[in-house]
Amino acid sequence: MMRRLLSSTIAASPTISLICRSSHIHRSSAIFCRQMSSTAEDVAMRLKSSGLLRSQGLIAGKWIEAYDKKVIEVTNPATGNVVSTVPCMGAKETNDAISAAYETFSTWSKTTAAERSKCLRKWYDLLIAHKEELGQLITLEQGKPLKEAIGEVAYGASFVEYFSEEAKRMYGDIIPAPLSDRRLLVLKQPVGVVGVITPWNFPLAMITRKVGPALASGCTVVIKPSELTPLTALATAELSIQAGIPPGVVNVVMGNASEIGNSLLASTQVRKITFTGSTAVGKKLMAGAANTVKRVSLELGGNAPCIVFDDADLDVAVKGSLASKFRNSGQTCVCVNRILVQEGIYEKFASAFSKAVEKLQVGDGFVDGVVQGPLINEAAVQKVESFVEDAISKGAKILLGGRRHNLGMTFYEPTVMTDVKSDMLLSREEIFGPVAPLLPFKTEEEAIRMANDTNAGLAAYIFTSNVQRSWRVSEVLEYGIVGVNEGLVSTEVAPFGGFKESGIGREGSKYGMDEYVEVKYVCLGNMNG
Ligand code: SIN
Repeated sequence: MMRRLLSSTIAASPTISLICRSSHIHRSSAIFCRQMSSTAEDVAMRLKSSGLLRSQGLIAGKWIEAYDKKVIEVTNPATGNVVSTVPCMGAKETNDAISAAYETFSTWSKTTAAERSKCLRKWYDLLIAHKEELGQLITLEQGKPLKEAIGEVAYGASFVEYFSEEAKRMYGDIIPAPLSDRRLLVLKQPVGVVGVITPWNFPLAMITRKVGPALASGCTVVIKPSELTPLTALATAELSIQAGIPPGVVNVVMGNASEIGNSLLASTQVRKITFTGSTAVGKKLMAGAANTVKRVSLELGGNAPCIVFDDADLDVAVKGSLASKFRNSGQTCVCVNRILVQEGIYEKFASAFSKAVEKLQVGDGFVDGVVQGPLINEAAVQKVESFVEDAISKGAKILLGGRRHNLGMTFYEPTVMTDVKSDMLLSREEIFGPVAPLLPFKTEEEAIRMANDTNAGLAAYIFTSNVQRSWRVSEVLEYGIVGVNEGLVSTEVAPFGGFKESGIGREGSKYGMDEYVEVKYVCLGNMNG
């Protein structure tokens, strides 16, 4: 595939059409890409002039190349074309970033809550002021539709705003003492340097959901964004500098994931790892953190059941399950993975749901009206294909879609499958793509058994008009998040996290702050003197 380097071409010739040079592009995709090229060009130009298209790592407030000058390419998943390059960093750069964060911790952790709060508030204001450009950057490197990408910026910024407020509420306690000459206090103190490892599906919000509370409590951070979407992370870090957050508080390295991860794990100066990503990698990080007894927060894979009972309002159930399933083209940890539908409503639901899915417009995220962007890369599409093949070979049927979209490349048709069974990959594993499997059930007990029959436990959804049932079922579902008659439940004010192998710890809300503080007990003796 012939690719062009967007950022360097801009400098050389701003008027040249910069994307869509792929010789393998499907015809309709090529037409569509021609429509797109000026948009992507404008986006890149605007980003460059606003200083937000950064292509270096950030250590101690300085933008730097990899020490051996190696780079990695960042591609647009909708076209396969190169957007920019970023440094391919490894152990040496990571250790320097850790040292910078460690040194800065001694001053940042001593600032007042009000000072940290002001910095975070300024960062929030800048994120919002630049939400269009940041959204465009997300669409460029991650693929999600522009409106959804701008929505991610607002969502991501909300964590910075929320924790700018929480910084001032890091209260300790005074405990009634068991002896009259004692005074017992509890202090809350920042844990120290935090290694922040983030995924590609929310390149901005997963950073701010972690870095917001870390900075609010007085921690400093070394961020390792996904190598697939580092540009949004760098732009977000640039705005943290513009907000007056001191050099060394926020550091960003990317490149050789295992070298960076191992350096973060090995360092005794790093006191905590926070990670969003696959369960497999989360387990490795947890094991690696044991050596230095670091704290971990893990937000890992899900396998969200969506239970539609006979007594559900059909429109509400279709709207809610559609919104959850197809958010970010099915690439979120809380996306509905399995739709369990009670027999009495199964046919009606399948038909109404498919009609709604059929209307979803697929394409490049920069095109107006598109609500389903590409999957992140070829491997993601192959995984979805293999899950669909597995289901068909075991007797499932395709009601809609079931193959690559005619745009080709990373585009997959929004798909609905029936006759799906609990032993199929679609039911057992996280799909992370736009495929909705429908599984029938007879009774509430059977639905609960099916829903809990997994090692994952992040999010679950219930659709019912019976208030007692909604309460009863919410209580027995082994999940950290339950949506009742609602498919979109994420917000900065509520705790996000999973049971079982879906993770440890909570993000967002007042609970999110606990992840970054140590609790210190101070006993004052001989106080009667
Ligand atoms: C995720 O997919 O990990 C995050 C989704 C969300 O915050 O809603």
